[in-house]
Amino acid sequence: MADSNEDLIKQILSLKKQRNAIILSHNYQLGEVQDIADFVGDSLELSQQAAKTSANIIVFCGVHFMAETASILSPQKTVLLPDLHAGCPLANMITPQALREKKKEHPGAVVICYVNSSAAVKAESDICCTSANAVRLVEKVPADKEILFVPDQYLGSFVASKTGRKMILWPGYCPTHARILPRDILRLKAEYPQATVLVHPECRTETQAVADAVLSTGGMIRYVRENDATDFIIGTEIGILHRLRKENPGKRFIPVSEQAVCPRMKLITLETILWSLESMAHKITVPERIRLKAKRAVDRMVEG
Ligand code: 13P
Repeated sequence: MADSNEDLIKQILSLKKQRNAIILSHNYQLGEVQDIADFVGDSLELSQQAAKTSANIIVFCGVHFMAETASILSPQKTVLLPDLHAGCPLANMITPQALREKKKEHPGAVVICYVNSSAAVKAESDICCTSANAVRLVEKVPADKEILFVPDQYLGSFVASKTGRKMILWPGYCPTHARILPRDILRLKAEYPQATVLVHPECRTETQAVADAVLSTGGMIRYVRENDATDFIIGTEIGILHRLRKENPGKRFIPVSEQAVCPRMKLITLETILWSLESMAHKITVPERIRLKAKRAVDRMVEG
């Protein structure tokens, strides 16, 4: 590791202690960010950590909706996002106004929103879910209820196929996962016929169709840990390869596409983390009226 990194890490750790802060990192973060975090996980695990931490400050190494969700759950804590441009294009594919219009077309529907959405969209929803618990939460909805699922069409159709439920889907998608194509998986399968293919439910339906398992990032971490296979073809944002390789040194991980990079996740660096702790910015908060409404949906996510 470069000396400059060592220096940065030392400063971050000392300031973190001084401020009673916790650093939470999503599985897609840069390797050096994951390595200094107190906890690395998927969206659900990070929300659960944010809800229960005793730290005063949460430095969220992820994207905006994740920090917002932490603030919905722990409004008394200071939640910092080291770069305000770390947004989520999928979350931006729906607005609360557009959702309100759609709800008018389906007045009886239960609205389920993927956690990749703004607090204002969560406030318009009945239940929030992550890719780790979407199937479980949809299964709990009474069978006679219509379901409006927003904003990820691919996660939505994955859940519909798993549960047999008819769901109205919002046409949103993650541009990074949309780059993961079946033809690349088929090419790699020909090269590594023994490999197990794992893809994220944000991938296109046709991409999911050629995988052995469709899992959240946390699900992938567990699957690899518990599975005897040694070779894995991984169809999700490539930041997860750092953790997979670190935790499973005897196994081989082949990304479907080196281009599956979320540029916004990568805006969080050791430099921006240190700056964030020094300047106590950017503070992410949610107006109380929206927070209370959103929290009802988010509580179902964290419990379920
Ligand atoms: P999970 O970590 O919950 O699988 O979600 C990944 C993601 O979409 C982050 O934007």
